[in-house]
Amino acid sequence: MLITLPNLLPAEQVLQCREMLTSATWIDGRASAGHVAAHVKANRQLAQDDPVALQIGALITQALRQHPVFQSAALPARILPPRFNRYEGGEHYGFHIDNSIFRLPAENASQALAPSALTPRLLRSDISTTVFFSDPDDYDGGELIIQDTYGEQRVKLPAGQAVVYPGTSLHQVTPVTRGVRYAAFFWTQSLVRDDTQRSLLLQQDVAIQRLIRDGANPEIISQLTGVYHNLLRQWANP
Ligand code: NI
Repeated sequence: MLITLPNLLPAEQVLQCREMLTSATWIDGRASAGHVAAHVKANRQLAQDDPVALQIGALITQALRQHPVFQSAALPARILPPRFNRYEGGEHYGFHIDNSIFRLPAENASQALAPSALTPRLLRSDISTTVFFSDPDDYDGGELIIQDTYGEQRVKLPAGQAVVYPGTSLHQVTPVTRGVRYAAFFWTQSLVRDDTQRSLLLQQDVAIQRLIRDGANPEIISQLTGVYHNLLRQWANP
């Protein structure tokens, strides 16, 4: 399932973020790539503890919390703090599949020093998300190409919009041949690991919301809502 979030961040906020990203300190993206990915990766990234990354990351996380489509489609259990990349001058990231497991950073210093830090919290990357911070007219190339069960999807969204797709997908970012492409990306562990099950739950949820809007019989709405929750109970792994 591939969905877009058309209005994740308001235009004014996107402009402020892009100004911050423009003057941030960018490092070689290969620093965070695995052995295999390093061969196909050529871009810049922000350090994970960069103040700009932390500040914009918090805005994104806050927006996701209040975004009904993201919540229904992703059923998030854990979200990795967003990371940031920049492509220009032919930079690209060839076809690859993302790492499956990530370590969640400690939320504060005392947590980092606690005995529980020896058994760190992990995140399984069920879902990938890219948030676009450059407008499509400002750069050539830089398309996110995702191969999923329905074939190849080419994604290049306006600034402030996001694409959400299965973490299992093979994907690439094509070379940016003019201008600069700024984006954020992050992974979500879902309560429901399987993409097909998540998709069925979303369809059921959307249908129930339509019935509510149309003023359908409350008993039927209640019955279908019960089925939704019983399916979620079967499939969820919090
Ligand atoms: Ni990737």
